[in-house]
Amino acid sequence: MIKKVAILTSGGDAPGMNSAIRAIVKSAHWKGLETFLVYGGYKGLTEGNIVKSSNIEIDRYINQGGTFIYSSRFPEFIDPEVREKAKKQLIDKGIEALIVIGGDGSYHGAQLLHTIGIKTICLPGTIDNDISSSDYTIGFFTALETIVSSVDKIRDTARSHHRCIIVEVMGRYAGDLAAHAGIATGAELIITSENKKTVDEMIEVVDYQMNKLKKDSVIIITTEHIYDDINSIAKEIESKTKVETRGSVLGHIQRGGTPTSMERYLSTIMGNFAIELLCEDKSGFAIGFVKNELVSEPILKALEKPKQKYFDTVEKFSKINQEN
Ligand code: F6P
Repeated sequence: MIKKVAILTSGGDAPGMNSAIRAIVKSAHWKGLETFLVYGGYKGLTEGNIVKSSNIEIDRYINQGGTFIYSSRFPEFIDPEVREKAKKQLIDKGIEALIVIGGDGSYHGAQLLHTIGIKTICLPGTIDNDISSSDYTIGFFTALETIVSSVDKIRDTARSHHRCIIVEVMGRYAGDLAAHAGIATGAELIITSENKKTVDEMIEVVDYQMNKLKKDSVIIITTEHIYDDINSIAKEIESKTKVETRGSVLGHIQRGGTPTSMERYLSTIMGNFAIELLCEDKSGFAIGFVKNELVSEPILKALEKPKQKYFDTVEKFSKINQEN
């Protein structure tokens, strides 16, 4: 059985990464394993930024946002020479296994390390929820709470001024955050990459809701990367409908904050499961939470899973929310 395990976080940080790290360290110590923290993701790994962790100090991180071991985006890891360097950093310290918390790019890195002899396990850590081998990823619930509470506030001001406000949320190319937030806030139009709307279609909705139905506000929620500039779309809507319209890009606020209870629960049971898998000598596996159960499968299989489809759901709820 392995004796030493390292942990790294990679890609965009996500609330719950810290509670996952804590769970891994605690569970490893419980099983008699030594734990090491890799500071700065795959870049830090390659540079040998690896420190033995304490089992006691770690408890304070259970409710903190971000990742206290830092993260990075490191495309250079695709180079086999860079990976050999990273492997050597682990081997030199007698570390046989690495647990990676991150999104799909981080999964690819872990798969490549697995093929050159480092035991790896992946935890889905991204606010985007775009790792289809898990119903939910670490970070998604907290980002969703942030978006929903922001949109509730935006609705207050939109109502007070009889305005339409277009809210752009993160998600990279996945519509999970927009779909869940749109349904949870009653947005009149929910847009994801599956149901992109033209500006004319938006104008039609705003005109009907505000000028015919005499509603006091309209909220449009869209996933990022669909429109170049929601502020210029807002201007166009305003000029055609005479309804005051604004754009609001929520931005990086969505990535921060105290992880919610569900986030802490999910990241803690996933972190513990990662150690159990390593103790069973598993490697090259990705952990997921599917239908209320922890599951694991080979990383490559996990990456092939089709993405969640939202077209019918968001179309239906947009229509329902447009009813007077
Ligand atoms: O993957 C998480 C995420 O926050 C995406 O939602 C977003 O598109 C991207 O990262 C932003 O990355 P960066 O902070 O590097 O600009």
